[in-house]
Amino acid sequence: PAISLIGVPTDVGAGERGARLGPETLRIAGLREALAARGLDVQDCGNVTGPDNPWQEPVDGYRHLAEVAAWNRAAMDAVYAELARGRMPIMMGGDHCLGLGSITAVARWCREQGKKLRVVWMDAHTDFNSADATPSGNIHGMPVACLCGIGPEALTHLSGESPMMAPSQIRQVGIRSVDEGEKRMVRDHDLPVYDMRYIDEVGMRRVMEEVLADMDEDTHLHVSFDVDFLDPSIAPGVPTTVPGGPTYREAQLAMEMIHDCGRMGSLDIVELNPIFDVNNKTALVAIDLVESLFGKSTLLRR
Ligand code: ARG
Ligand code: MN
Ligand code: MN
Ligand code: MN
Repeated sequence: PAISLIGVPTDVGAGERGARLGPETLRIAGLREALAARGLDVQDCGNVTGPDNPWQEPVDGYRHLAEVAAWNRAAMDAVYAELARGRMPIMMGGDHCLGLGSITAVARWCREQGKKLRVVWMDAHTDFNSADATPSGNIHGMPVACLCGIGPEALTHLSGESPMMAPSQIRQVGIRSVDEGEKRMVRDHDLPVYDMRYIDEVGMRRVMEEVLADMDEDTHLHVSFDVDFLDPSIAPGVPTTVPGGPTYREAQLAMEMIHDCGRMGSLDIVELNPIFDVNNKTALVAIDLVESLFGKSTLLRR
């Protein structure tokens, strides 16, 4: 497929600044070159623009709500435009609040094309908070709820319609941090979560077989890759590290199995924050894993 890189340089949804540097960090670490070396047509569309990070305290449970809505509209429009050109968007965040704009665009595209949407959400966190449940007010902890129609109108109705998707269309992998009120939300809405305990118990291979089951040729798979999915020992360059994440090999296997299913149509790479990183190693491991998403493997396939 032809690929379009879209930079969305903001951290308005996070509790720490620095994710705004994510797109440049991925460029410097060689994301475009790595994909081009696989023979893919890759175009870098540059960065979308939006308001500054005002660095304010939360208001009524939301930090920077107006700014988060503005950045998500910009991300939505850019992702939709690339889909409409017949290209596969890779959104380079930016914090994970942007999953709302990106997936809103993808869901709208799927509706228009008569395609089924499936989202694989790779993350340490469920990002299913509400204003009542959030301990931080940080909207990067809320995009999944907003996509499912739970949240402030400014976010749930980004495209005019709501909800953009049902919890049953999501598969979350790598989860190991859910806030107390958020746990109730996850249970009450039956959000499909493959947490670290389940990965420990049955192994990443079986987890990904279950995650990728029941997709046909009419399914568009969106992958939302929060870099804090990875164990902090291999990926320290994020603001919200949580111990006990997938190892390098477990993450590689997950990416290789997503590639092999042949359905991926769009991708987010979010939460990379070089301020927290060591020698750019998190950007490099993220790119290494994205290469696997696009078919890099140790041996030639028969
Ligand atoms: N659950 C925490 C919160 O809502 C952390 C969320 C982290 N989200 C992320 N996309 N890194 O504040
Ligand atoms: Mn996240
Ligand atoms: Mn999260
Ligand atoms: Mn996370």
